[in-house]
Amino acid sequence: MEMLRTEFLGKKVSSPLVLPAGVMGMSFSGLHFSAISGAGVVTSKSLTLNSRTGHKGPVIAEFEGGFINAMGLCNPGIEEGLAEINEFKKVCDKPVIVSVFATSTDDFIKLTKYVNTSKGDFLELNLSCPNVFDEFGIPLAASKEKVAEIIASVKKISKLPIIAKLSPNVYNISEIALSAEKAGADALCLINTVGPGMLIDKKMVKPILSNRTGGLSGPCVKPIALRLVHEVYSCVNIPIIGMGGITYGDDAIEIIMAGATLVGVGTAVHYRGIEVFSKINEEMKIFMKEENYANLNEIPKLEKLWTKDSHCQLQK
Ligand SMILES: Cc1cc2nc3c(=O)[nH]c(=O)nc-3n(C[C@H](O)[C@H](O)[C@H](O)COP(=O)(O)O)c2cc1C
Repeated sequence: MEMLRTEFLGKKVSSPLVLPAGVMGMSFSGLHFSAISGAGVVTSKSLTLNSRTGHKGPVIAEFEGGFINAMGLCNPGIEEGLAEINEFKKVCDKPVIVSVFATSTDDFIKLTKYVNTSKGDFLELNLSCPNVFDEFGIPLAASKEKVAEIIASVKKISKLPIIAKLSPNVYNISEIALSAEKAGADALCLINTVGPGMLIDKKMVKPILSNRTGGLSGPCVKPIALRLVHEVYSCVNIPIIGMGGITYGDDAIEIIMAGATLVGVGTAVHYRGIEVFSKINEEMKIFMKEENYANLNEIPKLEKLWTKDSHCQLQK
């Protein structure tokens, strides 16, 4: 794995592959299974102050382009979630990202205080869940002011580096990313699921998901993820965890070329099994050997073509 070793916010990482929030990360065993299967970093399910049962089923469905889900942020609550993470850290020293979700600055602060007492390595603020619109309205990540307010408040008290998870469902991603960076985010994570979208059961004449709509993930979102990661990379100076439809080693290489430092692999766990992490690690190494890249830093990044045209230049 020498070729794939890297560093992220001061921590050594054995592979750039990350288990993203919401996929296998609800329990100690899900985190552990992913880590021993080759993920370099693992992320918990987004944890809220109190436990949530989420939406009633069906909450997830497959279609030809990937998956649509509206889980509704089901999770055991911050205290139980952190207990699972602490268990994981007893047996595995791979870094853990603790993902938290709230809808107000006050609640993000309360969650941060809990996370400060845990063995987590990074704090990820999920500002971008598209599936709880009925309860909470438009995701916070749609507003650069709200993004800045929350990050600045959390930054004052967090003992862990902060990662802001951004939404793909905006027209001004670079403005929002810059706002997050300026407010003190140490890294960015993108993309969360795309949409919301809808699938229809034509015999029942109704939407397939009980929530009617849900976020898209998997291969259909990869081109959107590549574009957004590249646009953000073109204007910020903090590292990016890139994700969205990464299924094979080639996809991982492409998102690194777009500007990602680490690479999330979520929906692909469904297609290729939990071994997807070791498979992608091997596929990346084959490509790197063919191209004579001795390590991840040698993989070239795309030229920052858009900088002069995008919002970020106006902001700077
Ligand atoms: C079933 C499911 C649950 C998810 N839950 C969360 C979550 O709790 N918090 C979050 O920030 N993202 C969540 N996501 C989004 C993923 O972390 C990731 O950003 C997205 O799925 C794109 O990556 P992928 O195409 O590799 O799955 C979820 C995705 C899926 C498919």
